[in-house]
Amino acid sequence: MLPFASCLPGSLLLWALLLLLLGAASPQDSEEPDSYTECTDGYEWDPDSQHCRDVNECLTIPEACKGEMKCINHYGGYLCLPRSAAVINDLHSEGPPPPVPPVEHPNPCLPGYEPDEQESCVDVDECAQALHDCRPSQDCHNLPGSYQCTCPDGYRKIGPECVDIDECRYRYCQHRCVNLPGSFRCQCEPGFQLGPNNRSCVDVNECDMGAPCEQRCFNSYGTFLCRCHQGYELHRDGFSCSDIDECSYSSYLCQYRCVNEPGRFSCHCPQGYQLLATRLCQDIDECESGAHQCSEAQTCVNFHGGYRCVDTNRCVEPYVQVSDNRCLCPASNPLCREQPSSIVHRYMSITSERSVPADVFQIQATSVYPGAYNAFQIRAGNSQGDFYIRQINNVSAMLVLARPVTGPREYVLDLEMVTMNSLMSYRASSVLRLTVFVGAYTF
Ligand SMILES: *[C@@H]1O[C@H](CO)[C@@H](O)[C@H](O)[C@H]1NC(C)=O
Ligand SMILES: *[C@@H]1O[C@H](CO)[C@@H](O)[C@H](O)[C@H]1NC(C)=O
Repeated sequence: MLPFASCLPGSLLLWALLLLLLGAASPQDSEEPDSYTECTDGYEWDPDSQHCRDVNECLTIPEACKGEMKCINHYGGYLCLPRSAAVINDLHSEGPPPPVPPVEHPNPCLPGYEPDEQESCVDVDECAQALHDCRPSQDCHNLPGSYQCTCPDGYRKIGPECVDIDECRYRYCQHRCVNLPGSFRCQCEPGFQLGPNNRSCVDVNECDMGAPCEQRCFNSYGTFLCRCHQGYELHRDGFSCSDIDECSYSSYLCQYRCVNEPGRFSCHCPQGYQLLATRLCQDIDECESGAHQCSEAQTCVNFHGGYRCVDTNRCVEPYVQVSDNRCLCPASNPLCREQPSSIVHRYMSITSERSVPADVFQIQATSVYPGAYNAFQIRAGNSQGDFYIRQINNVSAMLVLARPVTGPREYVLDLEMVTMNSLMSYRASSVLRLTVFVGAYTF
């Protein structure tokens, strides 16, 4: 249909005129006798493009339109229109010319072959020239004299169409299979990776690949495990390690004080003690080790948790010193008549909170008089009644701790021994001045 503007009056009249003109002006003498192809009227054979080409009659025919008419070329013909006529010139659009079926000469070649310029038969590439009837899902393969429609790799012909093969149905993959158009892909479960054949799955050593274990990592089949060093425990997240507070588990780990440290614990002892076998505390004998500050005129006395420097000469008038720890009241001195004849200094140390009653010190008389009777008593230093004396026999007695005591504190007890011999009307008194240090601890 010729798309004239609908507003143009008398278009039917013009249309009739045009047909008349086209018929009258058709060139009949442009035939090429050697050509195999003959074009319809208004077209000429173009050997370069091997197509029929529109002839521009407005240029090739002298005075194609007469008088006041203007010539407008058109596929297969031309138009003569009044110069004043408004034409929507769609007739000569830039698009490709509509295909014009060539007039076929009989083909001297076999089917699938065509003659070339040298008149020998060459194969027709049906695939390239779109002369095949392969489906869009099929691949076209040119063959000598024909062509073939085949399915691409991974596709299979079902009826006329090529259908994707579901390779996953054939268990090609060790773990998981993902079917893809024309192919497939294997996938592995977490903790595995595809092997070199792209089908089997091999364990991933996560420990070598930055597994997030804080301390120790153990690879295992398909996964990994985090572990902690001794003294640490694995956090609930499975990766991080937190220190175990061993001290909170038991109060018996250390005799005195437990100190938690990263990954371990240690026992500490109070001042004056040293650690024994990792958990026990042992008193340091400063007097023995030489760590004391006592002077030449002093005697070092060790006790639980410390030591004391005491003057070597502790005798006070009217007593005179007769040996390192023994003071004597001379019988010749009238002041000594009512006094114990001797005072002997002794020192001992006990720990706190001992179970009672506890024997703490044994007094032994060294009487030179056979048949003498010795009586023992605590003369001073026991106002609280923390001690008592248990007589063992005529020559010895035991000092007994009666109540549990807690240090640090010290007692100075005067233990008096009265020796009597009725036959000789003899009576003598001597005192053992016992200093009892009570340490601050139970050890
Ligand atoms: C495995 O897949 C990779 C990546 O797609 C490829 O380069 C390689 O050739 C494949 N190996 C095998 C054995 O198919
Ligand atoms: C203990 O003293 C008593 C009373 O004086 C006396 O009878 C007894 O023989 C003495 N015993 C010893 C073992 O000396």
